[in-house]
Formats: sequence, structure tokens, C-alpha cells
Amino acid sequence: MSEARTAVLISGTGTNLQAFIDRAAADSLAATLALVLSNRGDAYGLVRAGNAGLPTAVIDHRDYASREAFDREIAARLDAHDIEFVILAGFMRILSPWFVGQYIGRLLNVHPALLPLYPGLDTHRRVLDSGDRFHGSTVHFVTEELDAGPSVLQGRLPVAPSVDAAELARRVQTIEHRIYPDALNWLASGRLRYVDGRAVLDDKVLDSPVVREFQ
Ligand code: GAR
Repeated sequence: MSEARTAVLISGTGTNLQAFIDRAAADSLAATLALVLSNRGDAYGLVRAGNAGLPTAVIDHRDYASREAFDREIAARLDAHDIEFVILAGFMRILSPWFVGQYIGRLLNVHPALLPLYPGLDTHRRVLDSGDRFHGSTVHFVTEELDAGPSVLQGRLPVAPSVDAAELARRVQTIEHRIYPDALNWLASGRLRYVDGRAVLDDKVLDSPVVREFQ
């Protein structure tokens, strides 16, 4: 069986990375965490990776003349570590069409909203401003269009009337920590595939993502 060697790409605190590390430690991750790569040398997630004994790399996007040049360096580093799957976990750089083409079907992102609602930034504030009753997070395949690839798994929670954006962000992140490793397990074990631009789980096309309810 393949080792499902997986890289986690981060830019910040890395709480999602920590969730993957914890699942691996509990022996409930079907993938091997083989590299943690950050575009920022001060990302706290690098400390988490170091504490877990994982290989790390820093590639600073400011050192590259173009988005694609930066992405080609990332790909070279992934190749050097024999990476099969790539997990974006708070990686705050938009990837070039070239990179997406190299990894399509093997590249997942988590986005803090119930896509297709609220692509882009500042999702929690926008949910509160709209008075939505539900919010959550989405794991999706990455395609060339930002936050628009086929959704795989959503965690959904009701928006309490008195909640503020910071608390909502905290709750959504807790959900991400539950759903993202599960989605990677599906992908790494071959249950989840990307076929003709669609997500396929257990040989069934997902016309909409699997939804899990949280409180
Ligand atoms: C996560 O909440 C993730 O949904 C979000 O960044 C956070 C990273 O947190 N991603 C995006 O907004 C991508 N558009 P973490 O560094 O603690 O895992």
C-alpha cells in the first residue's frame, strides 16, 4: 500500500496542522505527514511541526519574481520529499494554474465558510453582517478558480444570536480540526477521487458535499 506521503502547506498558527499531527499520533490518519512547508519563516505552525519531529521547509514568496516561479520552487521541494498529496491549511497564497494542474485531484483546501457562500476573506464578519442562521467550514478540491473547486465535506453549526466574529472563528476552527483529517483519510485511502472536475466518494459523484452538523 502507498504511504500516501502528504505535505501540509501553512502560513500561520497551524491549528489545522496540529489536528493532523494529533490524528497521526493517535494512529487514525491514513496518510504520512512527510513535509510541512510555509511561506513565512515566523509561522507558529513550523514550531508545531518541529515539536512533532516533522521535516519543514520555508519558501518565502517575496524571494520570487512571479507567482509561478514561487510555485515551481514549492513543487520542486514537494518532489524532493516524494509527496503525493498536498493539504492547504491556512496557506494564504493563491496558487498558480500551473501548480494546480500539477496536483489537481491531490490538492485539498479548507475554507472557513459554507461554500459556495463567502469565498475569499473575512468570512465570519460577513456571515454575521448578513444575519445568517448557519455557518461552518468546507473541505474542497482546489481548482484554478479560488475557493470554487468541488466541495467534499462541510461542518455546519448554527450561529448563536449573541456570538461575535472571534468566537465564531474559534468554533469554526474546532470543526475544521474534526472534518479536515477525515477528508484526507478519504483521499489517502482512495475512497475520495477527483474525476472530470467532480468529487467522487465511494464511487458516487458528490453533487453536494457531505454535511456534518455541529453545535
Ligand atoms: C483556517 O481557519 C482556514 O479555514 C483558513 O485559515 C485558517 C488557518 O488556521 N483558511 C482560509 O481562510 C483560506 N482561504 P490555522 O493556521 O490555525 O490552521
